[in-house]
Amino acid sequence: MRTTRDPARRLPPGPQGHWLLGNLPERRSDPLGLFLRGRERYGDVVRYPMGPFLMHQISHPDDVKRVLVDNAQNYQKTALMQRLRPVLGEGLLLSEGGFWRRQRRLAQPAFHKERLAGMARDITGLVEDALPHWDALAARGEPFDLSAELMGLVLAITGRVLFGADLSGAAREVARAVTTVLEEINRQVLAVVPLPAALPLPGHVRLRRAIRVLDRIVFGIIDARHQSEHPSADLLDLLMEARDADTGEGMSDRQLRDEVMTLVLAGHETTANALGWTFHLLGQHPEAEARLVTELSRVLGERTPTLRELPTLGYTSRVLDESMRLYPPAWLISRVALADDVLGGYPLPAGTIVVFLPYVIHRHPAFWERPEVFDPDRFLPERAATRPRFAWLPFGGGQRMCVGSGLALLQGQLVLAMLARRYHFQPVPGHPVEPQALVTLRPRHGLRVVATRRAAPR
Ligand code: HEM
Repeated sequence: MRTTRDPARRLPPGPQGHWLLGNLPERRSDPLGLFLRGRERYGDVVRYPMGPFLMHQISHPDDVKRVLVDNAQNYQKTALMQRLRPVLGEGLLLSEGGFWRRQRRLAQPAFHKERLAGMARDITGLVEDALPHWDALAARGEPFDLSAELMGLVLAITGRVLFGADLSGAAREVARAVTTVLEEINRQVLAVVPLPAALPLPGHVRLRRAIRVLDRIVFGIIDARHQSEHPSADLLDLLMEARDADTGEGMSDRQLRDEVMTLVLAGHETTANALGWTFHLLGQHPEAEARLVTELSRVLGERTPTLRELPTLGYTSRVLDESMRLYPPAWLISRVALADDVLGGYPLPAGTIVVFLPYVIHRHPAFWERPEVFDPDRFLPERAATRPRFAWLPFGGGQRMCVGSGLALLQGQLVLAMLARRYHFQPVPGHPVEPQALVTLRPRHGLRVVATRRAAPR
């Protein structure tokens, strides 16, 4: 007979929480605090009862590697993530198995390196077009929400670069719908008893309405392409021209809708948040901002940056990496184990939810010195080389790693370079800035700033 000291029977430590709800109340009220404290108090594998579910948090990069790479076939996207299905359908983020593999193979070439040069030109062109608007914001000298402005800019870039679509007029509508979607999905994920979506509850009605708004925009993109006579050689063309090797059939409009919706939503919100947090951090660290502006003036002067120049903007790239360390837009990644597994020496049962949090791992004191300090030089190659691969994972990893990471970094660096060399964004004193952990990590009350134009570099 096994004794309780048998390692095979050992349960990972963790907070019990409420007798019925487990840790759900804290998961709702203070998710970042719950998981940060969980790792601090209990270590690299923590067990949380969460209402009807059992959740395990892992925080050691080796265990993350096992889930994402070495034993990836044993892990799938969770039922919690599947709550996004009414919005994202069978798009890349949620699909599984052979279907996912085929769709990924179709989409991936659109993000290849040789495509990025063309995308870089489109991105810088769109930022230049937007500069008169940003100049006007600066000239007015009044506070505005930098977060909302960046969301609009990145949405316009995403629409143009991936789908040849002009989404600049849709920014407000999309932002409102996306906020509703994120809030409602978050509420559903945290419900003790999930209620059927067909019930006409106010939240369900709001969600359906928001999805209708997004559907109209996405089907608009697809219809416009159906009617267009010019080949565009972008992601949308790749998806539309794809034919099944066996049946010769193309993708249905429904599947196209799911892929386009996934790419629009997964792509613009995350990238805009990364940029927003970056400017927030620069606002708090004038010495880093001064170093960034010096680099931009030295390398670029007033020239428009190109893809080829980006490797020479080392500090710019490190600022972005460090910002995504402290505020990873995808703050939590989750999987469900299909069969029993062992992580961190603890046996975990099939069916358990495994979560790992870039937000927590990026602050793990075993891998990050003085983790709360903003220090872009942590990403100097010689210092980065001392850390395990999965100590920094803003884009996840393994076969399900973010398909748009190259585009996100390209966009992030170009927009950061072009805006930071031209404007200083002064945070409005007293405006509270706190991260809100929904599906993505966003500034709960936006980022109120006043912009000023910098003098042109001499
Ligand atoms: C800073 C910006 C971004 C961050 C932090 C980010 C983060 C992530 C992460 C962590 C994952 C993996 C999720 C998991 O393993 O469960 C992911 C997947 C994905 N991302 Fe991104 N992302 C960003 C930008 C983009 C962009 C620009 C696009 C496309 C335009 C995009 C499209 C996707 C898609 C389609 C997936 C699912 C891939 C698959 O499962 O095959 N993301 N992203």
